[in-house]
Amino acid sequence: MLAIDENTITQAALEQMASTPDPRLKQIMAALTRHLHDFAREVDLTPDEWLEGIKFLTAVGQKCTAYRQEFILLSDTLGLSSLVNALHDRRATEDGTKSSLVGPFYRTDSPALKLGDTIVTKPTNGQEVCLYGYVTNSSGKPVANATVQVWQPDETGNYDLQKHDPSEMDLRGTFQTDANGRYHLRTIVPMGYMIPMDGPVGDMIRAQKRHGYRPAHIHFIIGGPGYREVVTALYLQNDAHIDSDTVFGVTASLVTQVNDKDSASPIAGLPSIKFDCQLPAAQAVGSGRVGADPSQIVKKAAS
Ligand code: BEZ
Ligand code: FE
Repeated sequence: MLAIDENTITQAALEQMASTPDPRLKQIMAALTRHLHDFAREVDLTPDEWLEGIKFLTAVGQKCTAYRQEFILLSDTLGLSSLVNALHDRRATEDGTKSSLVGPFYRTDSPALKLGDTIVTKPTNGQEVCLYGYVTNSSGKPVANATVQVWQPDETGNYDLQKHDPSEMDLRGTFQTDANGRYHLRTIVPMGYMIPMDGPVGDMIRAQKRHGYRPAHIHFIIGGPGYREVVTALYLQNDAHIDSDTVFGVTASLVTQVNDKDSASPIAGLPSIKFDCQLPAAQAVGSGRVGADPSQIVKKAAS
């Protein structure tokens, strides 16, 4: 009979799990167990601290609804989502636009719009801009009929999901690129914002004396037949938090700016934001979405 102590417990747990038939599940659970045990040993975790952790994770789960995903927010603020994105990008066999966070405000069914349409559906004080760019493959050739999903917060830093009736959609749309791989639409300049701070993740951010802000950004999911879907975002350079994103989504190649004098902009007389996207060839790997429409996660958990 093995004497269980603070070291032998790890081997005992791994031995019991060794019967897992799915090799990937076995690998993931074994590594998780080893790292979790090493973590507890490293910090010399006390029963009170363990219980605090259980209470915290319980509160994270209880905060989740069809309109709110607190677990994704936790993953984002710990830098885990950004790490998973970087690992996903490293598996691509061709160059492509870098991934960025899906975040908790993605909706799968945003309205299909025509090129040049606006995604603004509610009265706004935001500064109107033309958002446009070219979708190309890894050798720079245009990708026609690529699907471009766009979503963003408004000029006060709020998404539609955070407003009075979260089922109403605003500042979202799905477009198809033209024969030159170009998309263009009307929108407003987004404002940076504080991540949702009224839950356990907010408590954690305050306990760590972090500011909680994300710099101004616009999200994209761009894909086309034969190409790997790119899940990304553009970030506006002049934002005060451009170098200290609370969820580590910003990377240099995704930073752009509002341009008042862009003669190439498809809508004359409006300032513009240009964001191009390069799609790598499709591969037999799973989705690059480190995040999801919260309502889909709740549905799956209930089924
Ligand atoms: C966002 O981009 O919308 C977001 C991402 C991570 C956490 C909170 C918000
Ligand atoms: Fe966002």
